[in-house]
Amino acid sequence: MKLVILGPPGAGKGTLAPVITEITGCTHISTGDMFRKNIKNQTELGRRAEAYMNEGKLVPDSLTIDMVRDTLVNEQDYDNFLLDGFPRTVEQAEALDAILAGSGKELDAVICLDVADDVIIKRLSGRLVCTNCGAGFNSNTMPPQIEGICDNCGHELSVREDDQPETVAKRLKTYHDQTEPLLGYYQRQNKVVQLDGSGTAEETDEAVKEVLKKMINGDEVDLNDFV
Ligand code: AP5
Ligand code: MG
Repeated sequence: MKLVILGPPGAGKGTLAPVITEITGCTHISTGDMFRKNIKNQTELGRRAEAYMNEGKLVPDSLTIDMVRDTLVNEQDYDNFLLDGFPRTVEQAEALDAILAGSGKELDAVICLDVADDVIIKRLSGRLVCTNCGAGFNSNTMPPQIEGICDNCGHELSVREDDQPETVAKRLKTYHDQTEPLLGYYQRQNKVVQLDGSGTAEETDEAVKEVLKKMINGDEVDLNDFV
């Protein structure tokens, strides 16, 4: 399957991704994770992206589109991916359509997580991440078993640089201004599956599993039926 997961910062895209990849076998491609890896490895791309990310702004389309194009073209399983955090502008969405159309392909669905700003602000105030294995936790909603330590690998957990409250406010504004218009873009292509992401992680997991099972079985999915 060729899927996109779309939603505001902190909506739960990264949390839901392993559920989707487990069911579909898709490769998870997160542009945010790719930029953070480049920052950690002190690459030229990381150096250029970091200032934008810490300001809550989008990394310029030219850098982002080139990075995703290279990844998709080099990705062996080019037919089976979940894009998380890309596209984020109409220009990026048009570029993705063109990249896929170049080999006669198109997206199967765009899973949109719907979560209100006040819920997101609360969630992101408690997010903890493991920079070693990538696992995510939340001191408010999904605490690790031992405070400050990753359940998976035992590494120390940290707070993401862009989760400071003033940066979260900027990221939300960037989302509403630049990324929300993509909903209309994909609705016009009849590809949007809207999910309420404001419940517990388990509730969101169940909703997405139901949608994916229907898609895998070739059953009709009423694309607006899951709000
Ligand atoms: P990116 O890393 O993509 O960040 P984001 O979109 O802001 O989203 P997050 O990763 O913050 O949230 P999420 O939806 O994954 O939520 P999570 O599952 O962690 O991008 C970072 C930056 O990189 C951007 O700001 C931009 O600068 C740049 N960038 C990236 N892609 C770009 C692009 N295409 N173009 C230009 N620039 C780009 O969950 C959040 C927290 O809530 C966690 O603690 C989790 O445990 C908890 N949680 C999750 N679900 C639930 C639930 N249902 N109930 C309770 N708690 C929950
Ligand atoms: Mg994420």
